[in-house]
Amino acid sequence: MTLYRGTFLDTPVAGALRALDGVLQVEDGVVVARGPAEDFPAADVDLRGGVVLPGLVDTHVHFPQVRAIGGLGMPLLDWLDECALPEEARLAAPDYAASVAAEFVDGLARAGTTTALVFGSHFAQAVDALFTEAARVGLRVTSGLVVSDRLLPPELLTSPERALDEGRALAERWHGVGRARYAVTPRFSLSCSTSMLESCASVLEAVPGAFFTSHVNENLAEVAAVADLHGGYVDSYDRFGLLGPASVLAHDVHPTDAELAVLGSRGTAVAHCPTSNAALGSGLFPLRRHRAAGVRVALGSDVGAGTGFCLLKEGLQAYFGQRLLGDEGEPLTPADLLHLATAAGADALGLPDVGHLSVGMRFDAVWVRPTDGCTLDVALRTAAGPDAALAKVFALAGPPDMAGVWVDGTRIRG
Ligand code: GUN
Ligand code: ZN
Repeated sequence: MTLYRGTFLDTPVAGALRALDGVLQVEDGVVVARGPAEDFPAADVDLRGGVVLPGLVDTHVHFPQVRAIGGLGMPLLDWLDECALPEEARLAAPDYAASVAAEFVDGLARAGTTTALVFGSHFAQAVDALFTEAARVGLRVTSGLVVSDRLLPPELLTSPERALDEGRALAERWHGVGRARYAVTPRFSLSCSTSMLESCASVLEAVPGAFFTSHVNENLAEVAAVADLHGGYVDSYDRFGLLGPASVLAHDVHPTDAELAVLGSRGTAVAHCPTSNAALGSGLFPLRRHRAAGVRVALGSDVGAGTGFCLLKEGLQAYFGQRLLGDEGEPLTPADLLHLATAAGADALGLPDVGHLSVGMRFDAVWVRPTDGCTLDVALRTAAGPDAALAKVFALAGPPDMAGVWVDGTRIRG
């Protein structure tokens, strides 16, 4: 049993910030009690100074793109050709893949991300390296083999048969082992034949509880190319039974109303990736239309098109994007941003016991504790209340401010 003393901020209910200046009692990794400090004996761990948030949840991030971060100045398809795909091809070398896996998992943990839906690699051995490293560090990772059989450089292509065999073998090794789960992952329908999408459906059927993830409606040139190849973008997945409540599609910057209705009716979630959308010039995310259609939305960093692992930066950029949409934007409060970065992500990933710090939830948490005297420290000391403090965290905090990170009550960093 461990008693933590601190200022805990979370959003068990969308839209409302809950603040506790007090104690959380954690047993076997689960929050078993919470309340004012006077109701508990002296705490074991003092997290005062700064704030404690639920562990951040990244619903879309690419493992092989750590070293591709920062390729600015290009739209999606050029960026893939010039930055992302040449780097992804290097993961064919097992030593290289192992190094990148270590850098990637470390990058997530340093940013306070405790749970992630990770776009894996085109190479099965590299996906093994990712799962191995995530298990060693302790992160909750859902991931899988990325598959494609057209358009990409030849070294990144596979066949539907091989994709099925390698996908099933990886799922057998990792799905449900510790905190790992398998995700069926066609890169995007533009790089997949109908046979490859059928192969994805076979893996999904063969692995109960597996997730499905891919990209959708990110960039106008991409959407037009998919229309020529498959017809509708959402339909290119839906037609093969790939969309359901355990599916997460990244971006969806340019959906039609009919597509939003399909996503809403399937219970499929969308990973909104605001820094990536801005960096690639993909567009401003229509959050209001998603909400109106009942589509669940969470946040993704989309590293390496996104500009870093920090979900707080994604929250801030999501806020900027909605502001820039004027009357069509959703006004986002600090509580909305925290909800998007935590509880909404856990919901999108089907994890009912993470995302906030209520009794009965796993103690996945991040302690945002700036160094004495820095601007964030000054801002937090002078904040008018919890909502203002949280706004300052989103405006100013980054990975160097993450003083401690816990998963299931185990401190994995700091
Ligand atoms: N669409 C297909 N592959 C990718 C990728 O690696 N990044 C992004 N942002 N979009 C994609
Ligand atoms: Zn992506």
